[in-house]
Amino acid sequence: MTRKSILVTGGAGYIGSHVVKLLGERGENIIVLDDLSTGFEEAILYGEFIKGNTGDQALVNNILKQNNVESVLHFAAHTIVPESVENPLKYYQNNTCCTRNLLECCSTAGVKNIIFSSTAAVYGELETGYASEDTAKSPINPYGSSKLMSEQMIRDLSYATDLNHVILRYFNVAGSDPDGRIGQSTKNATLLIKVAAEVAVGKREKLLIFGTDYPTPDGTGIRDYIHVSDLAAAHIKALDYLQNGGESTTLNCGYGHGFSVRDVINAINNENGSPINVEEMPRRAGDPPELISVADKIRSTIDWQPQYDDINLIVRTSLAWEKKLLAS
Ligand code: UD1
Repeated sequence: MTRKSILVTGGAGYIGSHVVKLLGERGENIIVLDDLSTGFEEAILYGEFIKGNTGDQALVNNILKQNNVESVLHFAAHTIVPESVENPLKYYQNNTCCTRNLLECCSTAGVKNIIFSSTAAVYGELETGYASEDTAKSPINPYGSSKLMSEQMIRDLSYATDLNHVILRYFNVAGSDPDGRIGQSTKNATLLIKVAAEVAVGKREKLLIFGTDYPTPDGTGIRDYIHVSDLAAAHIKALDYLQNGGESTTLNCGYGHGFSVRDVINAINNENGSPINVEEMPRRAGDPPELISVADKIRSTIDWQPQYDDINLIVRTSLAWEKKLLAS
């Protein structure tokens, strides 16, 4: 029998590639499956790369059989909320149907553990601004719905079979690997810290502030920004947890406190040494004023201890990566 291995779908993407790096550094046997629709082959620092789609059952069955795959980390997905509103079936196909196909392959091959990338978008609009894992799920866009449907399939399959899972609900992921080898290369980015870093290095003319009249201390939206390396480490802890016999569970991934858009801009300006160009705009449709995780369960369940809970550090690594992209 070949050595046990780990299949990482979407391992060429922003978060997947950071997890592959950590898995590789600890000597795991890794297979990365990615169709490169939004990922980058050069971001895969370890393991064997197979170009293909997660929904291709013949391919996935073959990979699972050939490599004695015990655990699957499933990142492959489309993740742009406005695009999901315009083209919902693209999201239900790639995020929900492909996950269903992958799960069937996992079940057939007897895969033991799955770690799934979910999102705070499953909660929808919150009354208090804070979401715990038990908060009602009411997504307000197809992206969130496509992920919530996948969560449900994973729970149902775990109930019916020996599959164990950890579902990780990401809050606002930002920053880049402090070693500077990988980062967020997403084209046409819409996420605040990435866009602000692009403005700082001169790739964009200005940052639009979407809404200055929210009921928050400075009028701008507040989010729980989590550094991608801390999020990647949470996946490793989740894997260890399942491999040590931990029960299937769902965990929020955030720090449990938030920063406003103006806080982020101040941090970028401090790091950059000069103020970035901004323009105040009306609110963006669908943006809640405040979205912060109740983040106790992840700490107590999988022994996760964040190392980068510092907004200045987060923007510093984003800025460093943006400078590197500009120079390459
Ligand atoms: C986005 C996703 C959300 C997902 C989350 C985590 C959307 C609409 N939402 O959240 O579903 O769970 O990432 O990955 O894509 N902002 C500006 N100017 C900009 C960009 C953003 O002012 O150019 C503001 C927003 O109004 C918001 C905050 O910055 O208050 C964060 O926005 P963004 O980075 O786009 O992430 P979210 O919308 O919170």
